[in-house]
Amino acid sequence: MKRDSMSKTVIVTGGAGFIGSNFIFHINKTYPEYKVICVDKLTYAGNLSTIESLLSEEKFQLEILDICNRDGIYELFRSTQPDIVVNFAAESHVDRSIDNPEVFLETNIVGTSVLLDACRKYGVGRFHQVSTDEVYGDLPLDRPDLLFTEETPIHTSSPYSSSKAAADLLVLSYGRTYGLPVTISRCSNNYGPYHFPEKLIPLMITNALNNKSLPVYGTGENIRDWLYVEDHCRAIDLIIHNGKIGEVYNIGGNNEKSNIEIVKIICRALKKDEDLIKFVEDRKGHDLRYAIDSTKIMRQLAWRPQVEFEDGIRKTIQWYVDHQDWWKDILSGEYVKKNDWIIETKLKMER
Ligand code: NAD
Ligand code: DAU
Repeated sequence: MKRDSMSKTVIVTGGAGFIGSNFIFHINKTYPEYKVICVDKLTYAGNLSTIESLLSEEKFQLEILDICNRDGIYELFRSTQPDIVVNFAAESHVDRSIDNPEVFLETNIVGTSVLLDACRKYGVGRFHQVSTDEVYGDLPLDRPDLLFTEETPIHTSSPYSSSKAAADLLVLSYGRTYGLPVTISRCSNNYGPYHFPEKLIPLMITNALNNKSLPVYGTGENIRDWLYVEDHCRAIDLIIHNGKIGEVYNIGGNNEKSNIEIVKIICRALKKDEDLIKFVEDRKGHDLRYAIDSTKIMRQLAWRPQVEFEDGIRKTIQWYVDHQDWWKDILSGEYVKKNDWIIETKLKMER
């Protein structure tokens, strides 16, 4: 039986990771009548302590499931009849993709195709693919006038970005061939709470708090466009509710900073000596600059970033200062045991 339009069932894949968990918190707060089903395989990047507070909520369901597991995904779609699917689940770290591309192809491409097939088989109101600005490759450092638009050709640099681009093409093809109601968003670098401490901002904050060296790749001149994670979540909310089927939307913070600037901001905020900064070997194929033109989503869906970088980075640094258990458990590996404990106790009790 289909629910009335007020109460939707939303499958959020990758909801135990950084952006997926923030998105679940956003949906939970904004649409308390929605049922959210978090699908997560719990790779090294999945952390149940992030979403532990939701486990006892009636409108929240957790499924420990690999998006590549076709039978498991089909059974979940059959039994829950989702209205909306938002696919965050991915291998997301560029450096890991350079060391070992295979799992990126599995999860990011095959996993996305399994979800698309499930949508086709059981019907869905919307499939939204959370993609990245990295599918456009990079821009030169000396052309600040150039920005990525939705028309910029796909031109990838790493196995990670190639796998995300392949997934985007599959999503668009399912839209055209099968009439599946799909949308895609391509966002710039996010930062905020629950960001795994292997990525630039959380790595630098946690290393600085531990008085460890701050490894900056190459010269530190590479530029990223930083967006507070809640602004990304608000943009996806607008797209899944009001976005046009078949469209791609760029999402950016209009906030370009070089890596070395970011690291120095963190040093200053934490009153740490810049001597901690160590220039190390560059990333292979390192993209120089990302910069997003978000005109389309601003004009069509009235989206605007609401968090200024100065506020966002201050809040983020403070969050890591205040939540040392969260990231220290990750650094020690304790979070894996906690994941198992949560599954054994809370999850089994709920069922
Ligand atoms: P993350 O690595 O923090 O989280 C990924 C989550 O997906 C984890 O919980 C992990 O356990 C889960 N997962 C991985 N493989 C899975 C599988 N096979 N089946 C089910 N679950 C699986 O990633 P993130 O930074 O939150 O990124 C989320 C999405 O947003 C990704 O698709 C990424 O490409 C995209 N994105 C990220 C950024 C960014 O700055 N972090 C920017 C733009 C787009
Ligand atoms: O642009 C969106 C993308 O942003 C997402 O699609 C990816 O999932 C996400 O991981 C992120 O990719 P980046 O490669 O830009 O993020 P990362 O935090 O790994 O690196 C940011 C920049 O900092 C990049 O130029 C490399 C540099 N860097 C990174 C690390 C981990 C360092 O100089 N030192 C480091 O130790």
